[in-house]
Amino acid sequence: MLAVAEPCAPTIPSKALRDELEQRLGHGEIALPVLPDVAARVLALASREDCSLEDLTDVLRNDPSMAGRMLEIANSAAYSPKVRIVSLQQAVSRLGASTIRDIALVISCKSRVFKVRGATTKVREIFRHSVATAVVAQEIARTRRDSVEEAFVGGLLHDVGQPLLFQEIADIQEALQTTVDPLRESALVDELHAALGAKLAKRWKLPPRTMRAIRDHHDPGADGAACAISLADSIAHVFLTETDAGDLAQLPTVAALNLYPDDVGALLARRHAVLEAVQAYA
Ligand SMILES: [Fe+2]
Ligand SMILES: [Fe+2]
Repeated sequence: MLAVAEPCAPTIPSKALRDELEQRLGHGEIALPVLPDVAARVLALASREDCSLEDLTDVLRNDPSMAGRMLEIANSAAYSPKVRIVSLQQAVSRLGASTIRDIALVISCKSRVFKVRGATTKVREIFRHSVATAVVAQEIARTRRDSVEEAFVGGLLHDVGQPLLFQEIADIQEALQTTVDPLRESALVDELHAALGAKLAKRWKLPPRTMRAIRDHHDPGADGAACAISLADSIAHVFLTETDAGDLAQLPTVAALNLYPDDVGALLARRHAVLEAVQAYA
């Protein structure tokens, strides 16, 4: 449980908090979660050309809770099977290796990374935003004939530094018996999460392009995968907050990715499917 600071506990100045976080970040003192074994094996297997569906089913069978969740998701509206899927083998052959890989990664990350003691609502919102970004990033990659697998992983993990930092700040509060001003906390998380996310991507040995996409997704000069993640981030925000898409087509990321207004229109038309995916994983 997150220790609730005493009402009179002093507030830690934001510079002191930033210095502490930067020091922990720079010295590699922030504990990075380990990629669960099953997820690592599914990722490795599904990216191999000779991956057989039997191999994939065998790996998943070793983790009953993952297998159970996999079946639930395979039967959700997002994948709308015509006939109810009742076995893992059926799920794997119906959805295919790359979708199974995506689902395994989402399930693993949800339990390992998108978890902060005492901050359930906040982290749930980050998780929903991350799933939406992953699905939109995949659609953008399809439009641009880029790698949909990499786009999904990049989108899912682009803000992964956020829950890790919220956890770290909670630990600092607990250790120093201080409180942290929520607005300053959010500003610091905004500032530092991309760098921390990139460290996690490196630790998990994700492809360098994915690591760079996570690191640079707020960089206005970013191109390629990072720029696509940045656009997916903006569209996911519109979908989840039900705000008007407004002049989304005018975003610099749209021009940088050489997308046409019709492409943006087609992405925005995927809203329902994206929200169904978020619902399935949530
Ligand atoms: Fe971000
Ligand atoms: Fe984001």
